[in-house]
Amino acid sequence: MQDPIVIAKKAAGEKAAELIRPGMVVGLGTGSTAYWAIQKIGAMVKQGLEIRAIATSEASARLAEELHIPLTTFAETQQLDMDIDGADEISEQLDVIKGGGGALLREKIVAFHSRQLIIIADQHKYVPVLGGYPLPIEVIPFGWEVTYNRLQQLGCKPLLRKKQEEIFITDNGNYIIDCAFGTIKDPAETNAALHHIPGVVETGLFVQMAHTVVLGYEDGSTQVL
Ligand code: 5RP
Repeated sequence: MQDPIVIAKKAAGEKAAELIRPGMVVGLGTGSTAYWAIQKIGAMVKQGLEIRAIATSEASARLAEELHIPLTTFAETQQLDMDIDGADEISEQLDVIKGGGGALLREKIVAFHSRQLIIIADQHKYVPVLGGYPLPIEVIPFGWEVTYNRLQQLGCKPLLRKKQEEIFITDNGNYIIDCAFGTIKDPAETNAALHHIPGVVETGLFVQMAHTVVLGYEDGSTQVL
């Protein structure tokens, strides 16, 4: 029997992919929910859908290539029509925490230049207030220790991300510090405060960027917010 969370993620990803129209330039998100959207897009391309895509990570670019989804770059096109990406937390105001997979910088660049950001997630990611999930922050390796101290002074419990004992390195050659805030009452204010710290490249706070949220449920149904 399939894991109910996988059923929920697949339902959300596939539902969002169905919003794509011929000729669109589409952003391909990163993570285990975006995986299902990309799989569905691959199947739609195989059936003749003509689109171009920009991937938000090396991993998603590799998956797209495997599925023969035509990729483009910002050198060729500056505006995307639709970006489909996952989330770690979504608030009732549709503010979002992203970056659990470490791709937040490219994800935010792609989302910012898209007409519509469609966030896909399983039902458990929808919360009243953001902050239960530690906020991923991409930082420059140079002086990360002092960046870390400044993040702590903002009231979070920071943790340098590691993978199998080694420091996790993003696709952009940077580090991730996961900042446990507990609650983030004012996401815009927190995002602005974080951006004042030199060494912070980008935060996983996507404030008022989501156009639509597609939640997937464990019975395979979806809800569009
Ligand atoms: C990667 C992300 C992901 O979209 C986010 O972590 C959700 O991942 P998943 O769909 O695997 O739960 O932001 O940087």
